[in-house]
Amino acid sequence: MLKMAQVLLICCLVGATNALYKQWIPDTNYENKTNWDKGEVPCGSDTVQFSSQRKVSVFVETTHAVQEMTLPMDGEIILNSGAGFYVISGQDPDCGAGVMTKFKDADSLQWFNPALWQAAATLNDLQDGHFLFSVHEESVPCQQDDVVFKPLSSFRVDTSSSQTTIPVKSVSVLGNVFDSKSEFSEYLGSQSGLLQFHGSSSVTVGNPSCGDATGCDCGNSVNHERICSTVTCGTLSCKKPLLPIGHCCEVCGTIIFIHFSDSFNLENYRGRIRHLFLSLPKYQSIQLGMSKILKPQRLMGIIPFGSSPEIQVVILDGETGKLSEVLAQDMTKDIKSHGSNLGITGAEIQTASEPGSSAGTVVGAVFGVLLVVTLIVIVVVLIRKGIVQMPPMPSMPSLSRFRRNTDVDDLNAAADRGFDNPIFDKPDMLNNISGLYSTDSISMTQAGVHFINPAYDENEIDFTV
Ligand SMILES: *[C@@H]1O[C@H](CO)[C@@H](O)[C@H](O)[C@H]1NC(C)=O
Repeated sequence: MLKMAQVLLICCLVGATNALYKQWIPDTNYENKTNWDKGEVPCGSDTVQFSSQRKVSVFVETTHAVQEMTLPMDGEIILNSGAGFYVISGQDPDCGAGVMTKFKDADSLQWFNPALWQAAATLNDLQDGHFLFSVHEESVPCQQDDVVFKPLSSFRVDTSSSQTTIPVKSVSVLGNVFDSKSEFSEYLGSQSGLLQFHGSSSVTVGNPSCGDATGCDCGNSVNHERICSTVTCGTLSCKKPLLPIGHCCEVCGTIIFIHFSDSFNLENYRGRIRHLFLSLPKYQSIQLGMSKILKPQRLMGIIPFGSSPEIQVVILDGETGKLSEVLAQDMTKDIKSHGSNLGITGAEIQTASEPGSSAGTVVGAVFGVLLVVTLIVIVVVLIRKGIVQMPPMPSMPSLSRFRRNTDVDDLNAAADRGFDNPIFDKPDMLNNISGLYSTDSISMTQAGVHFINPAYDENEIDFTV
């Protein structure tokens, strides 16, 4: 239920990641040895077999000698200019005894598999191999992205999904860029189109590019489960792994949530971080993904209450997360001194190291939904003054127990600090970064209800049903 509500809210609010190029990695090229069952491109003594039932579009770049070739019932071979096949009689001296080599089946490769895409900010970056890291949902093409199938190659992609269409800005196939809806749907109906794209949904082009300089929401959260079904998560070595929004796996690293104003520019900020920090030798092992996400807000930490756009910066260092924390501190310093020029109004940090250091350094936080804060403050003040009594909770079994019930004292202590809302009390927000928000912001103990603010750490909540 809760999930459903979130999904609805997320898809109904217009969010806005800037357009990137997303390139499909696999190909169905004759010359790619990963496409052959023996792991080698067949040579002149070999017998080549394409499974008769499989549909496939094969791109051939050069000339090849074969002994014999079995073709599929429904398929095509796209010959590059100058490419072709010839038969040599007897054994090919460069090849040895001939074997039977089969072209592998490409039917199972799914559009929504994040491992099969690489992303870059420009076509040049794509060619030079300067790829961008992103959370799983955004590894797959977003609605404002340009999709690239490598020039001089063919492919076969399963576009099945629960939606009828997969909207993107443009699709480039064999070097032809399609950005008109009608032209691309015509291509999809062609012989090549039918062999390259299969599955229940159809890719549509012509979706507008991201017109918002602060970024655009990717739009793939509706396909989150499909995307994550293809991902296997590794084992983690940190104490308190984090789950970035849009990612399928918990990570040992650091997340910064940036609050921005209209003057923020995502592309510029991404460039700034690249030049100021990521280019430094000490940060070579860092993977950093930055995008606009819709962060779910919850009333009193439990009830879903819409979502607010924020910039999520996911920083991974491939290890325990310590180096990512160092970078996060550097970025925080930069925000403190230049935030106002960059259109950044605040930032929160979540780290994966042990509790204590993870309370979350707050740099002038501004809540997206002020109302939530106001309501919490009012309710708590009323309860403290005895004007309102907490109703007994057993009627809501799902809220009856939290993992950290044992830490009651801890929570109480945290509650005493919990109300220092920087919006109300601290005019010079940017200069106060002293754990104003602790992860455990409110507790009302005897009634058995502890509010643990999930805005800072979703992992803290353990609903027992
Ligand atoms: C061959 O295919 C594999 C897997 O599909 C891909 O990773 C690789 O880049 C391809 N090789 C070339 C030269 O394109």
